[in-house]
Amino acid sequence: MSMGWQVYVLVLVIFGIVSNWVLLRWTSRYEITHKQGQGDTTGHAWDGDLTEYNNPLPHWWLRLFQITIIFAIAYLILYPGSGVYDGVLGWSQEQQYAEEMAEAEQQYAPIFAAYAEQAPQQLMNNSDAMTAGFNLFGNNCAQCHGSGGRGAIGFPNLTDADWQWGGSHEQILTTIMHGRNGVMPGWAAVLGGDAGVTNVANYVRSLSGLSHDAEAAAAGQQPFGMFCVACHGPEAKGNPMLGAPNLSDDIWLYRATLESIKDTIANGRNNQMPAFVDTLGADKVKLLAAYVQSLSRAAQNQTAEVTAAAANPAASTQQ
Ligand code: HEC
Ligand code: HEC
Repeated sequence: MSMGWQVYVLVLVIFGIVSNWVLLRWTSRYEITHKQGQGDTTGHAWDGDLTEYNNPLPHWWLRLFQITIIFAIAYLILYPGSGVYDGVLGWSQEQQYAEEMAEAEQQYAPIFAAYAEQAPQQLMNNSDAMTAGFNLFGNNCAQCHGSGGRGAIGFPNLTDADWQWGGSHEQILTTIMHGRNGVMPGWAAVLGGDAGVTNVANYVRSLSGLSHDAEAAAAGQQPFGMFCVACHGPEAKGNPMLGAPNLSDDIWLYRATLESIKDTIANGRNNQMPAFVDTLGADKVKLLAAYVQSLSRAAQNQTAEVTAAAANPAASTQQ
């Protein structure tokens, strides 16, 4: 708190206590005077005959107010509240929070340490571990990836079998531990402005079997081979070392519209996944990596089946 605010709070506190005290002194000394012909009442009458006794405040009532003043002063001695003094107990919100966190850490750290000993496959089959993973995900990851991990524009879907940075346990672990920074340079100038960008964008859409202008796509193929394969690969299947996405699978980090693809190509992208090893520690990150794998396991199995069926159509028709 700045000096100005400290003084402001102090003045308000002192004013509150002093004015209360003055008010009490004044009311306790207040002499009740009765005017002639009024009896014991104030002389006010409502609804014709409803009158009010004119008595001093009862003593027990005044005492209560005095106790509140004593309480306030005792409180200000013990706790921070006056704006300038921290109180003899040395209590603070931050300290209480830190103590509670340390206590929780002591209680839960052994649980996460025990999970970290287990192999990822084992963790994925352990429903307690996956519940803990779900909670960690909800607290640390859901704000960007969604509570179900399905992502949003610019934030990858973690429940599919498509990985920008690789889907092995080690790769996912590295992603969460140290974060990732996906950088794609802009190509507007190199491709000769809007027309060149439009051609390559149409070619990119054709790679996923999306509707496109065939002529433009044909014109975009050669520049794609020159400028894009270095990162996205000769078959445009991506490169997990660089975080370059697969452009042939119709799964999009940004939108699949021609406009959005043109925007990516013309201006580039710079996207950041934060590192978590410092905030969460290695044990929790390991559990999270297994949890993320479990999210996509169903999708991965499905893809494996589809690939197997495609590779061996005879086998699938026999089923
Ligand atoms: C501030 C937003 C943010 C938070 C919080 C966040 N992420 Fe991410 N995450 C991203 C972005 C953005 C990317 C994509 C990075 C890129 O484009 O290279 C990403 C990428 C990933 C990837 C790589 C996906 C792939 O296809 O290779 C994984 C795995 C991941 N995040 C898991 C997590 C987990 C687990 C947490 C919680 C501990 C988390 N993220 C928290 C923004 C976030
Ligand atoms: C230096 C490496 C690099 C080069 C060269 C490169 N890209 Fe990329 N590209 C990336 C990376 C990394 C991303 C992911 C950006 C992110 O994480 O936000 C990306 C993302 C994209 C996307 C978005 C995909 C999605 O799922 O939304 C498109 C489209 C794309 N690139 C097209 C191209 C085209 C076309 C070229 C050639 C003109 C090209 N890229 C050249 C690295 C590269």
